[in-house]
Amino acid sequence: MVDIIVVGSGIAGLTASIHASDNGARVSLISPDYSERSQSVMAMGGINAALDTKGENDSVKEHFTDTINGGCEINNRKAVEMLTRDAPGIIDWLSRIGTSFTRDANGSVDLRNFGGQKKKRTAYAGSRTGKQIVSALVNACRKRESEGKIKRFVGYRFLSLIFTDKNECCGVNCIHEDTQEIKSFTGDAVIIATGGYNQLFGKILGSVQNDGFATAKLFTQGVELANLEMVQYHPTTVSTSLKRMLITEAARGEGGRLFVERDGQRHYFMKEMYPELADLMPRDVVSRSIYNVSDGGKREVFLDLTHLDEDTVKIRLDEVWEICNRYLNLNPLESPIPVFPAPHYFMGGILTDENHRTNIKGLYAAGECSCQYHGANRLGGNSLLGAVHGGLICAQNAVLEKVEGNPVTAVDDEVDLYVNGDESLSHALGEISDIMNESMGIYRNEEGLKKGLERLNDLDTNVNAKYYDCQKVRLLKILAKASILSALSRKESRGAHQRTDYPQSDKNYEKATFVTYENGKIVIR
Ligand code: FUM
Repeated sequence: MVDIIVVGSGIAGLTASIHASDNGARVSLISPDYSERSQSVMAMGGINAALDTKGENDSVKEHFTDTINGGCEINNRKAVEMLTRDAPGIIDWLSRIGTSFTRDANGSVDLRNFGGQKKKRTAYAGSRTGKQIVSALVNACRKRESEGKIKRFVGYRFLSLIFTDKNECCGVNCIHEDTQEIKSFTGDAVIIATGGYNQLFGKILGSVQNDGFATAKLFTQGVELANLEMVQYHPTTVSTSLKRMLITEAARGEGGRLFVERDGQRHYFMKEMYPELADLMPRDVVSRSIYNVSDGGKREVFLDLTHLDEDTVKIRLDEVWEICNRYLNLNPLESPIPVFPAPHYFMGGILTDENHRTNIKGLYAAGECSCQYHGANRLGGNSLLGAVHGGLICAQNAVLEKVEGNPVTAVDDEVDLYVNGDESLSHALGEISDIMNESMGIYRNEEGLKKGLERLNDLDTNVNAKYYDCQKVRLLKILAKASILSALSRKESRGAHQRTDYPQSDKNYEKATFVTYENGKIVIR
């Protein structure tokens, strides 16, 4: 029997576990929290598939083309071909395992408009799509857990990969968050599904539980990363006393419009600038437009839903209704919502091929931590799709894997579980996120990027903290440097990467930015 280790239990990890187990593997599913607390539950708006139930002649080909155009041509085309081809089957599978998608009057899965796509292609469950999918996957996973096919290890955080003497990946070392117990898991293949590296940017939309530790550690252990400069800013986020929160793109898909006030008049600037897709231009375009009309945030920009009917706002956009009422004390049927862009998604990460293989045999990656589908800018609704698809493809390939050699990297039981450094943990993490927010904003330039790099070089990572956090600060500093160096090396503007000193896109850069860690040095290709 094949043993598969899955790290991360959001949508990608759950899907990988279910499919690996259905393909005969024994699965160990490792995560710091239960799936119900994963980042995936925060996904609101929907999941794309060319189901063509709206009589619009939609097709897989158009889904493919929109995805490549949205990604500004640097997506892995083969991976996108497979993603868009498999999307309708994925919606069908998710429905069969119990995802309650919103249905139309005919009982078909309803579809809504989303950014960068002219056709209605986004299946949804109110504005709680992630929660509904997670709930169906958790249920499917539990059945397999009760049959002993999947074993869950909750409370453990990834520490490092374990290799064989043939340099193939055969397991992971993890640490228990509460007990500090260090535990090794070995098997035939490892699937990493640890999400984006939110903590690099601090208190952004996503959960800081997705801290980027795994991505950064893999990097230092020889795993190739790509497109780290491609950080997606979601156009419509709101500031609450807790953190920034998302106002789903579905609000614009349902007819919401952005405006700015000038001379006492409302200017619906997206319609003025982009008459065809207007507020549904791809996210990078909408975020830049908001930034520009607001003079970099000096003037307020609003999302107007006041013309929508009550059912649309209260039912189809249920989570928006709740966020506005609960956290902003604002009734979106009566008042427009003040919005501004914020970091939301990482298109870059662990480089995989279309089979979700990394450059290390036996090691796979899926979901937001991985990089293949989205190029320079992801279309809304393609992340949930990519997470399910990635999990599925990883599982199909990983069950065929047989690593060679014997494990050589055992648990490092010499670790110091508490390190008495001289720097405070929160200060070091705060400094990294300040640097990233300042140098890797919607617009960047050489001067700001180099300044960020200098500040990182000066950062003391000798913190006073538990073992995991000490390692984390060191690793995030390396990941931050790799991101800034990637941004410096792309001397053009493309998608989410906009350089004020190179404002045009350049055909010579119509390719991914690869980054490796060699003998302690970050190498960009
Ligand atoms: O706006 C949203 O609902 C986000 C969706 C996505 O990032 O795919």
